[in-house]
Parts: sequence; structure tokens; C-alpha cells
Amino acid sequence: PVHSFSPKLSSVPQGDFIRHSRKTNGSGVQADDTRICVVMVGLPARGKSLIAQKAVRYLHWLSIKAKVFNVGQYRRTATPNPSAEFFDTSNPEGERLRRAAAEAAVADMVKWFKERQGLIAFLDATNSTKDRRRWIQERCDQDNIETLFVESKCDDEDLIMSNILEVKTTSPDYVGQDPEVAAQDFRNRIRNYEKVYQTIDEDESDLTYVKLINVGHQVIINRIQDYLQSRVVYYLMNLHIKPRSIWLSRHGESNFNLSGQIGGDADISERGELYARRLPELVAQSAGDTKLTIWTSTLKRTIQTARFLPFEKLEWKALDELDSGVCDGMTYGEIEEKYPEDFKARDDDKYNYRYLGGESYRDVVIRLEPIIMELERSENILIVTHQAILRCIYAYFMNVPQERSPWMEVPLHTLIKLTPKAYKTEEERMPAKIPAVSTFREKGSSAKHQEKEEGGD
Ligand code: ADP
Ligand code: F6P
Ligand code: PEP
Repeated sequence: PVHSFSPKLSSVPQGDFIRHSRKTNGSGVQADDTRICVVMVGLPARGKSLIAQKAVRYLHWLSIKAKVFNVGQYRRTATPNPSAEFFDTSNPEGERLRRAAAEAAVADMVKWFKERQGLIAFLDATNSTKDRRRWIQERCDQDNIETLFVESKCDDEDLIMSNILEVKTTSPDYVGQDPEVAAQDFRNRIRNYEKVYQTIDEDESDLTYVKLINVGHQVIINRIQDYLQSRVVYYLMNLHIKPRSIWLSRHGESNFNLSGQIGGDADISERGELYARRLPELVAQSAGDTKLTIWTSTLKRTIQTARFLPFEKLEWKALDELDSGVCDGMTYGEIEEKYPEDFKARDDDKYNYRYLGGESYRDVVIRLEPIIMELERSENILIVTHQAILRCIYAYFMNVPQERSPWMEVPLHTLIKLTPKAYKTEEERMPAKIPAVSTFREKGSSAKHQEKEEGGD
């Protein structure tokens, strides 16, 4: 079952997602003590590594420590450039070395759990036989580690071929080799796996598993036990691989930006209005005739900025700017004067600092989680939002750590295009060349209102 998740910000302690989730799900799950080994299953080139890496990025964004243990990497220490024959199960030396690599990965994973380094490990390998899966499950049982098997099954030959060309010909297994030869060898490798591959079936009905069939066209879920498992499964169910981009923009310069005040619900300034009028052209340059959906916050400055865009628009409360509580409407200088200790505390730990009666970046990430989930399900979206919100969304896609994300520069009057590719997200920034004040204040710097202009180069 998938739990609904509706955070009530005023009651969120200065804790992490898990503490919070334990409060909300009400099922008494001690998520802090949960340890899950997510065991990837499937033939090569079925997106297993990509899925595992993406899930780890998502979990890190939510402050849940997670790690991928990739068996191929362990195997490469002994056999860096195997040809397809290495993966033939009638090759005893290959079998021995692959088994040794799997054992080394599992041993490191168990050690990682024992050292309390994290809560969720992804065992990234083909794990394509029932024997192998049973061995992993029994090994994890010994140490009270839950197992969640995630099988990616796909029989679309064209897709597999394009996956091979996209990621396998450039794999370290084939360094220095001709891509066509590499692709042919990789196809032969898959043939060898196909001889012994056993999909998860009724014999394994005691296992906790999810089967993702043809990139989520069908999803089969079995024995999902607790809250954290259901969160992971829900995330995996929402992933798709259709090519698309996500555009991000702050609202046009506002009257509060001009006066250096934070928060509020001000109108956009004259220059902000110029940006609003320029935005359709900027978007068209970047997106061509792709149909977009526009998401704004419920605050006037984002709605005004988006109003000339010829697309369907959706207002999200969750996209409203970080709530600065008692400091709403003040300048940084006024805050420094009236609340000097708070001002310093925020500089010392900006991610966790919560404004009196307001929010921290950590709080914002929690309320943005449904936005991220919806973004994963969607195709081409343009989000017009605020500085802190944009930093959090950007941090998710670009894997920016919490120490850095609240300090990133995201200038006004600039359109950012993010395009997810296998294993990474590409970024492009397009300044509108309309001047605006800078609202960026460096860590430790004086709180005087910045005169520097930005976006005008
Ligand atoms: P594996 O780890 O299974 O060998 P990879 O993760 O290296 O495969 O393959 C990445 C490629 O798989 C990318 O081109 C990506 O678009 C594609 N892909 C991602 N998810 C899936 C899926 N569920 N089914 C099939 N292909 C996928
Ligand atoms: O100044 C613009 C603004 O969006 C404020 O409304 C908001 O409080 C602030 O930026 C967030 O940025 P920071 O976390 O760097 O203060
Ligand atoms: C590998 O050696 O690249 C690998 C993933 O091994 P296995 O199929 O044994 O998991």
C-alpha cells in the first residue's frame, strides 16, 4: 500500500524526513532502525544502475543515507575488460570470479550497515537466478537486513539496443574499443545471461519485490512491508525515460527585491514586467514548439511573471517561497540588527536554520517532495518560483549537497533548462539580458543591501 503523505509544517520538528514520516504514518514503524537492501534484478541494459543511482540521489536529497554497491565494479578489479564468454555460465573461471565479486560486494554492504553508515543499500547486479537471490536474502536475514527485490524486465529490442549505445559502449569494460564491436559483444553478453535468467515468479512469493515491466507500463508489487519500502517503491513506479526537459525560472524582479526585503507578496517591478514580457520568447528559443505546462507558486510575483506564457498553468502552494516567519518583510540588515544571534545561526547552518515561526531549507525540501514526485511523472514543465525553492529543486536534479545548496547563486531574469540524461542531468542557462538587483548574500558577508546588478550582461 502507498501511504499518503501530507506534511503539516507547523508540527515538523527540526528533524529529518524519517522522524517526520514516523510521525505522519502513524503505523509505529521504527524507520530509524530499518535497514533495507534493495536487490536489483534483471538482464543487462535494463536500467538497473540508473534506477539505483537515481533512487540514491532522491534519498540523499531527503537526508536518508543510501549507497549503491555495484558488483560489476568489484568484478572489474580482477577482470577489467571481459569479453562476452566471461559471462557464459559454462565458463567455470568466469563463474568463480563473478561469485567472488558478488560476495565481496555483499560483505562490504553488510559492514556498511553494521557501521551504521546508512539505511538503504542498492545491490546493483543482474542477480538473475533464483539461487543467487535466495543466497542474498538468507545472508541479509542473518543480519536483520530487509530485502526488497526490484526487477526491471523489458523485451523491447529497440529500446535495449539504444540503451546499449547510450551507456554500454562507453562502459569501462570497453575502454579503447570500437563502439560497434563493443555493442556486438554486449549483445552476446546479454545472450549468455538469457540462457540462465529466471524472472521472479510464484516460487518466490515469500520475497518482498516489485517488478517493473517495460519501464513501468506494468508494475507488480509483492509483500511490501513498511513505510520506507513503500516510499522507495512509489518513487520507482513514477520514473519514466521519455526524453524531456524541465525549465526553471525565478519570478521577475519584485518591488521587495528592489527594497531588499524578504518574503511578502509584492508585485513585480518595471524590470520584472519586462522579464515577464520577454519570457515567452526566451522559452520559445529554448523549447521550440514543445508544449509545456507552467507551474507557479500562489504568490503574485510568480503568477505575474508567467502570465504571458501561452500554456496551461497550475498554481502550487508548495512552491511558495521559504517562510521567513517573524522576519517576513524585513531586510537582511534589519534582521542582523534585531536578531543578531539568529542571523549568525543561519549563516552557520543555513540548511537547518528555521526562522522563528517560519521554515528552514530542510522543511522546504519536505514540502517539495510531492513536487519532485510529480516532476518525475511529468514531461516538459516550466516552473516559475522563488530563490530558495529553486535552489532545492535544482539540488535534487544536480545532486548538490546540503551544505552548498542554500548558498547557490540563482540569478533573477535567467531561464535554466535541465535535461535528464542517463546517469546525469544536463544544464543550460539563458540570461534574458534585463538588469535586476542581486538578492544573493554571501555567507558571513555584511547584511547591507547589495547594489550589484545581475542578469544584465
Ligand atoms: P543495467 O544496469 O540494467 O545494465 P543501465 O542502468 O546501465 O542498465 O542502463 C541505462 C539505460 O537504461 C539508459 O539508457 C536508460 O534510459 C535505460 N532505462 C532506464 N530505466 C529503464 C527501464 N526500466 N527499462 C529499460 N531501460 C531503462
Ligand atoms: O530575497 C528574495 C528571497 O526570495 C526572499 O523572499 C527569501 O527569504 C530569500 O530570497 C531566500 O534566500 P536566502 O535563503 O538566501 O535568504
Ligand atoms: C558484472 O560482472 O558486470 C555483473 C554485473 O555481474 P553479475 O551478473 O554476476 O551480477
